[in-house]
Amino acid sequence: MARQPRQAMIAGNWKMHGTIAEACSLASALRSRLASAPADREVVVAPPFTALAAVGEALRGSAIALCAQNVHWETKGAFTGEVSPAMLAEVGCRWVIAGHSERRQLFGETDAGVNRRARGALEAGLRPIVCVGETLAERDAGRCFEVIERQTRAALLDLGSADIQALCIAYEPVWAIGTGRTATPGQAEEVHAVLRRIVAELAGKEISDHLRILYGGSVKPDNIDSLMAEPDVDGALVGGASLEAESFARIVEFRR
Ligand code: PGA
Repeated sequence: MARQPRQAMIAGNWKMHGTIAEACSLASALRSRLASAPADREVVVAPPFTALAAVGEALRGSAIALCAQNVHWETKGAFTGEVSPAMLAEVGCRWVIAGHSERRQLFGETDAGVNRRARGALEAGLRPIVCVGETLAERDAGRCFEVIERQTRAALLDLGSADIQALCIAYEPVWAIGTGRTATPGQAEEVHAVLRRIVAELAGKEISDHLRILYGGSVKPDNIDSLMAEPDVDGALVGGASLEAESFARIVEFRR
């Protein structure tokens, strides 16, 4: 089957790494290293909240877009520790991650919360990267597809077609994140194909054909090419390997 014309996207999730100075120096290194990268792919970085404004400045005028690692759904209010979509838009974010498995596993993020965060972001014109993924116990129990389907339907609940068109889904098996144990290209493709079918049911085939589905979990320079060779893998959400300009750049420069 012919590959759908979806723009590839490589997103770097810097997690809780980097002072402002460190984040700016990584951003500047990426900016110069990627100045001549192929223009057919979208590049996004998600620094910690404290570095967003400074990294936004360092990337101003470049093709690298700014992303936040989380977002609240309200515009303002008594929500200690949260950051609103408008605040993120103000510092130049175009993207936000919603429902990363570290939020779900370590900070009690629920399916309903992920939906609220995605909706709040969309209302403010931000584009969510909605993360889904099963744990090792769920996979071993044969529940991978059931978990993925539940998380996806919940995250996209009540979103209209235009909203679904604006977002990306990232499939990040929990057992592959930060473990060095990448899903095989076949395992990723199998889940991505199911995700695309679910979105086709929710929003129609046209939208699901254009939806970008990223894979995340121990993506490295030496496995990106084989992952990107799969027809339903449209990009990557990269943690550890995004913290070093050269390795992230090689991932951006994947070859199919
Ligand atoms: P990793 O993280 O590349 O370090 O496995 C991916 C992610 O959590 O987004």
